[in-house]
This record gives sequence, C-alpha cells and structure tokens, in this order.
Amino acid sequence: MRIGVLTGGGDCPGLNAVIRGIVRKGSQSGHDFVGFRYGWAGVLKNEAIELSNATTRGILHRGGTILGSSRTNPYKVDGGVDAVRESMRQRNLDALIPIGGEDTLGVARKLVDEGIPVVGVPKTIDNDLAGTDFTFGFQTAVQIATDAIDRLHTTAESHNRVIIVEVMGRHAGWIAAYSGIAGGADVILVPERPFDVDDVCQSIKHRHDGGATFSIVVVAEGATPKDGDIVSEFGGATDAFGHVRLGGIAVALEKAIEERTGYESRMTILGHVQRGGTPVAYDRVLGTRFGVAAIDAVNDGDFGKMVALRGTEIVRVPLDVALAEPKLLDAGLYETAEVFFG
Ligand code: F6P
Repeated sequence: MRIGVLTGGGDCPGLNAVIRGIVRKGSQSGHDFVGFRYGWAGVLKNEAIELSNATTRGILHRGGTILGSSRTNPYKVDGGVDAVRESMRQRNLDALIPIGGEDTLGVARKLVDEGIPVVGVPKTIDNDLAGTDFTFGFQTAVQIATDAIDRLHTTAESHNRVIIVEVMGRHAGWIAAYSGIAGGADVILVPERPFDVDDVCQSIKHRHDGGATFSIVVVAEGATPKDGDIVSEFGGATDAFGHVRLGGIAVALEKAIEERTGYESRMTILGHVQRGGTPVAYDRVLGTRFGVAAIDAVNDGDFGKMVALRGTEIVRVPLDVALAEPKLLDAGLYETAEVFFG
C-alpha cells in the first residue's frame, strides 16, 4: 500500500518516534510512504515529502516533527474534502495515518464517513484524549514543568514569595496535577474545578501561619475562577477549530494573591517550553509503539480506529470513542494532590 502520514495541531515531543515507527514497520510490510507537510495544510496543497527508512533515520530523539504541523481545518476551506481526495489520488494513496489531537483526529473521523481509509494516532501534551490512558508528549511536558517548579521553589524560598506557575492544559489539568504533585505545589488549580480566589488565599495564609515563608501555586491555563470566564491575554482570538488562544490566568492570580494576602507574588508562564525539546524515554517508547501499532491496524484493514494505550497494552479504539468528550482529570488524583495544599 501507499500511505500518507501527517502531524496536525500543536507539536509534541515523540512525534518523530511515531513517524519512524510507522515507516520502519510499514516498509517491512512492503508499504511506501509520503509525509504531508504542516498537517492538513499539506494535504490540501498536496505538499509532501517521501518518507523512507533513510529519511527517518536519526530522528527518534528529536523534538517537534520533521513534517511540520499546523491547525488547518479542511472543513473550514471551500472544497477542502475534494482537495484531500485529489491529493490522495495524485499521490496514489490507499490510506492516511494522521497523528494528532481532538481537532486533527476530528477531521480524520469525518473523512472516514467520506470513505477514506484512516488510522489515527493520538497526540497531545495535555493528555486529555479519551480512549487512551496516556498520550505521548505528556510525560515530557510534566518533566519540563516539574524541573521549572523545582527551580522556582529555590527562588521563592530565597525571597519569601508566592510564585504562580502557569502550565498548559486547555480542558484538563493533567499537566498541572502531575507536575504539581511531583514539584510539591501548595495549591493546584485545574479546569475541572473552578476556583475561588479567596479559598486560594486562605490556603496560602494557613500555610504561612504554620511557619512557611513561601508558596508555589500551579495553575493550568484553562483553569477558571468560579465567578469568571476563561482568561486570555490575547483578546479572545480563535484558531480554525474555534479554540480561544489561552494564557494569562497566572497574571490575574499574581495580582489577586498579592493584594489579598499582602505576600509578595510573582508569576511565570511556562508556555511552549513545555512542548519543545527532546522527548523523555517514556514518550519515545510510547510513540514507537503507537507507530508500529498503526501499521498493524492498516495491515488488518482496521480503519476508522485510533491506536491507544490501555494499562500496559496497545489496543485500537473507534475514533468516535476518542472524540466523544475530553478525558478529564481523575478525581482521585486531585484528592491526593489536595493532601499537600495549604
Ligand atoms: O493542545 C495542546 C496545547 O498545548 C494546549 O494546552 C494549548 O492551549 C495549545 O496547545 C497552544 O497551542 P498553540 O499556541 O501552538 O496554538
């Protein structure tokens, strides 16, 4: 078979491991590959490179994606689906393997209804895709955030400050909870639990009354105050999938906490640092397993599915299952984190 591969949405450490896994296993099965550039944008423009064992050598440890990525939505472009078909026809493609999150795989799901054979690979540092216990890239993001929290701890302690660390997490607080627990955060705020800023301040005061001289607050970018909306420093600008560009809840919290507690406060927004650089070993292994498993699915003609991790096994789940709703933070995990608040 001739197969098209693409990486869509925000990039993610481990994408290259998936591409390498697909190509290595697929060439052993006698398949040929093209890699579309910049996600669905490359499919629409028929812009692609040949993927072979030679062109995917030496990429396992590299962050980002050798194919490039974008948030292009073919369903927002006139004649988008026809353009997808035309590119596949011109390139003689029998199937597509899109590697992406809810948006990229949402497009893939619609293309299945158009009769296009697709096997999806789940990707997001946010770890919020349903149907899989983990997505690759998440552990790398957690490690980066944890390292940052460790560093912020020492400077917070030196200056008797409250430091608010904003991490990624649009719908779900997985990165905030994991890095917050690992980094010993004193408060963790997540999208699943709208917060009351007075409760946050009370918790910090309680800690300082007990002798602490500094505090660390970890907040997910999608966390919202009980009486407010999502916070965006970017004036509500949205992408082709309708997502608001997030970022800035830590700015508001810094001000509110300093005003209400009197403790000097500083905020840090980690942003895209969490998505950059070399993937940790776990993400290289998971990405490799997903890539190989995607070819197994193609070989079985099992289209309309996404490869996924369940426990320690790689399985296939219908794309519908993955896209039904985001996988929110496990309540028990948050309760464990709460033991260390205040
Ligand atoms: O979707 C993953 C994510 O990391 C979100 O947490 C974040 O809101 C978004 O990507 C930001 O991506 P970009 O700035 O690249 O559009």
